[in-house]
Amino acid sequence: MKLVILFLLCHMLYCVDVDKNTFSNYKDVKTQHLHIEWLLNLNDKVIDGSVEYTFKVYASQLTEVHLDIYKMNILFVYYPNNGQVLKYHVESDPIQKEEQGEKLVIELGQVYKYGEIVKFRIKYQIGEDARALSFMDPSQTDDKKAPYLFSQCEANNCRSMIPLQDTPSIKFTYSATVITQSPLINVFMSGNRLQTQKFQLMNNYNMNSIANVFQFELNIKIPAYLIAIVAGTVEERSTGTRTAVISETKNIEKYQKELEDLDKYVQYLEDYIGEYKWGAYKIVILPASFPFGGMENPLLTFANPTIIVGDKSGVSVAVHEIAHSWFGNTVTCNNWSNMWINEGFCVFLERKGLKTLFGDINLVHVNSQVGNNEMNALIKEFNSSQDDFIKSYASLHPKTENHNADDSFSTIPYERGFQLLYYLEKQINETRFQQLLKDWLQEYEYKSADENDFYRFMIFWLKINLSSEEFLSVKKSIDNVYNKWVYDYGQPPIEEKFENPASKDVLELVNSWIEGKGTKPQNYQIFDNFKSNQKQLFLSTLQDKNKDVTDAIMVSLEDAYHLSDLTDAELLFRWYTLSIITKYAKDTTNLQKIRKFVGLVGRMKMVNPIYKALNKETATQWYQENYAFYHPLTRQSIESIIKNKTIIK
Ligand code: BES
Ligand code: ZN
Repeated sequence: MKLVILFLLCHMLYCVDVDKNTFSNYKDVKTQHLHIEWLLNLNDKVIDGSVEYTFKVYASQLTEVHLDIYKMNILFVYYPNNGQVLKYHVESDPIQKEEQGEKLVIELGQVYKYGEIVKFRIKYQIGEDARALSFMDPSQTDDKKAPYLFSQCEANNCRSMIPLQDTPSIKFTYSATVITQSPLINVFMSGNRLQTQKFQLMNNYNMNSIANVFQFELNIKIPAYLIAIVAGTVEERSTGTRTAVISETKNIEKYQKELEDLDKYVQYLEDYIGEYKWGAYKIVILPASFPFGGMENPLLTFANPTIIVGDKSGVSVAVHEIAHSWFGNTVTCNNWSNMWINEGFCVFLERKGLKTLFGDINLVHVNSQVGNNEMNALIKEFNSSQDDFIKSYASLHPKTENHNADDSFSTIPYERGFQLLYYLEKQINETRFQQLLKDWLQEYEYKSADENDFYRFMIFWLKINLSSEEFLSVKKSIDNVYNKWVYDYGQPPIEEKFENPASKDVLELVNSWIEGKGTKPQNYQIFDNFKSNQKQLFLSTLQDKNKDVTDAIMVSLEDAYHLSDLTDAELLFRWYTLSIITKYAKDTTNLQKIRKFVGLVGRMKMVNPIYKALNKETATQWYQENYAFYHPLTRQSIESIIKNKTIIK
């Protein structure tokens, strides 16, 4: 009887799905290494790919390997050692095909046993359907001389550029050989760039001598979503002993100047959390159509040019991406319902770094307040939905099964996660919590984890490090809130408001504007001395109170601060969204500026709120105008915004 129960228990544990967003049989067989070979034909927007896999078998017997793919053309599969061709087929469902892709089933032609290594190769082709990739024409680049390519794999988009086990619970090392057809094109990937071995590889592809061959290698295990590539007429400029910036030539000096303190940012975070183990740290400033502010591709953060404001106010994005080197890239969430294990922890560390950078904790609290405003507005929005999935997006454990994991993406894992960690820190004090985080990183280094792993680790740590009396009382205060914080859809049990003098001035100014009904407050000019994040708080609070913001107030605000002509995109998108919501931007002059903005910036955080605020007709028209400029992920999200709109707004 006991044995049966034990067996059932083990079976249940084994059957618990860690990641519901992969079609792969990743529990039976795990990727150890990938070698990627890509021939880039950027003129035709096509990539010929060949990948060699090294897998280790974990099942007692294995006859098939299942991989994730999304809209790609598989050509053939074979064993590289003897050339034997392997049978394969694709299992597909019409809805899932669009949402998450398909299952590629590879028949191994023999039985492999636990512990054995399986190696095979897949040859395939991808093109513009690859939703991770943006293929840009020369005309869309700064120097107009050559095409440009860049990727964005998080969350589940790597499967559109490589057939693989696309789950953050599987980590592997990788190497890559990339061949370009134009000597103008430079290539970087999220790994170390090695010397090229021209002849051998060119013979393989039977090409003529003008091609460039780039080789990369990353010997630290990473999840699939951290594989990244950029190819174009880009160059690299040093910003310090271990940091650099990469971009097209036109603005590189400006970028280099703005990011001149990168070495210091890495140092601040190292001082707090431990050694940076990845080697070099470089930031690529991509075209403005890059769908995010930043993406933490290892050794090679990708960033949107909107982070370069001119006054270094946008560099906190760089600090955030550096912080991912520990939280996200070293310890990784094991599925997309646990994104806070990456983002919440990362924001927590980012704000520790910003404390050193800003030299004033109050200014860091302003960021937390902007975050709170955005989180609370979203929790309300998600809670009012009839859809069970959308409701769950307000929690730290959104439902993601059968959906594109990107659907659940919002600021919730960042801010709700940050608030939870802030609360936990308060229970034991900063020094001890800092040590807990260091020990967490060591325990889960190069592994993946979820909310249960963190809870178990934390309780274990507290038991060892606190007196038994203190342990019991701290455990009690954690147990009172942890599950609610993670799984409930309402407000977190406790909300730290982060009230402080720097935001008090801002909130008072907002109130004076609203009370003045269009008359400028006496001290209205203090706005000019606010830091960028205080101005963000000003605008986000106005948006919260938009019902009280009359046309007269908007006219007067514009007159006082010339908000429509600012150059900081963090402020512009908030002002433009407010202008549409309050119907201030109804005439063509104001609307034209917004129309221009959505054609120059493709960062989803900035264009999505504008598209949400617009009526269906205008949104559709502007989207069509800018379709070619937007990255496939931005297209996808704007299309879903437009689809959800009623015709008359
Ligand atoms: N990893 C994220 C970007 C991301 C998240 C891409 C989920 C795809 C799916 C990145 O680290 C990030 O959080 N970027 C933020 C900047 C940050 C300062 C909050 C962004 O892009 O705005
Ligand atoms: Zn992040």
